[in-house]
Amino acid sequence: MTAAKFSHRVFSGIQPSGNLTLGNYLGALRRFVEMQEEGIETLYCMVDLHAITVWQDPARLRASTRELAAAFMACGLDPKRSILFNQSQVAGHAQLAWVFNCVARMGWMGRMTQWKEKTAGKNAEAESLGLFAYPSLMAADILLYHATHVPVGEDQKQHIELTRDIAAKFNHDYGVDFFPITEPVIEGAATRVMSLRDGTKKMSKSDPSDMSRINLTDDADAIASKIRKARTDPEPLPDAFSALAERPEARNLVNIYAALAGEAPEKVVEDFAGKPFSEFKPALADLAVAHLAPITTRMKGLLADPAEIDRILGEGADKASAIAEPILDRTFEIVGFVRSRSR
Ligand code: TYM
Repeated sequence: MTAAKFSHRVFSGIQPSGNLTLGNYLGALRRFVEMQEEGIETLYCMVDLHAITVWQDPARLRASTRELAAAFMACGLDPKRSILFNQSQVAGHAQLAWVFNCVARMGWMGRMTQWKEKTAGKNAEAESLGLFAYPSLMAADILLYHATHVPVGEDQKQHIELTRDIAAKFNHDYGVDFFPITEPVIEGAATRVMSLRDGTKKMSKSDPSDMSRINLTDDADAIASKIRKARTDPEPLPDAFSALAERPEARNLVNIYAALAGEAPEKVVEDFAGKPFSEFKPALADLAVAHLAPITTRMKGLLADPAEIDRILGEGADKASAIAEPILDRTFEIVGFVRSRSR
């Protein structure tokens, strides 16, 4: 089964659960903007239902959702061209997730690397049921809109594969060709930005060390200091990117530079061949500041008017609902639910 009969539609989401990192920016947000610029129909969601799979302070969650909406727009997402909304304002996400909870198997969820990572060394029995079923809600996010393409970082690949499995099992169980088999879009030099302290770990907003990541809201001094203190090895840069295979920290910095500069990592290594990190790091810091400072400034401006952000999210939710409702109605019909209310 192919996605051929479905029109090209992009969906992606980010959790409003704390500061956005350079990883979120390079792996996701920047790609979101590029897809908007390509003129494709794009829906981008602040996934607050996903956020509460672990404890969130209610006031902080509301603030983080508005901050995330401001970050989306500050990075270049335009509410006139992309549908921007928060997940909990469109009831269909939770409704379709329930249907998918009954299609997906427990074993599928138990095999998810993120579930295993999040529960490693902990008592899994004490985690929320929502955290276990998290990928099923993610499948609902995507399939509620018959989205054909999902731009994400490398860490979400397995969840998109599961979304495909859920779509295929639903189609098979009910003998329909209703849900598309969605394609992940994982492209570019920065699909997996690593921690600045440990080149084998993903840069993450939940890492206890703030020095491990660049936050979108860091000022120029903080960015420069984090890059200066980023872990590297004592060797200078080689003359070929392939020579960085066993040097994860160095490779990560080169990849970040390449992604920010819009160049191939091979070209970056050629340009800095034989140079020490004491020379490469300030160049990288300048590049990061040049990219992020205008975003931070725009974000602050947007956050000065939270009522306008709420208005935009409300409007986005209305537009998203208009796409979702017929798809959800048809799903309920396929499943065999009686649909007799007049609305
Ligand atoms: P989240 O909120 O953890 O991350 C948002 C996006 O940022 C990407 N990302 C990275 N990319 C490169 N390097 C990194 N270090 C890095 N860290 C994060 C993630 O891959 C993601 O694309 N489950 C999702 C949210 C979600 C979703 C969806 C995504 C919910 N429903 C439907 C796509 C479609 C998540 O927790 O992303």
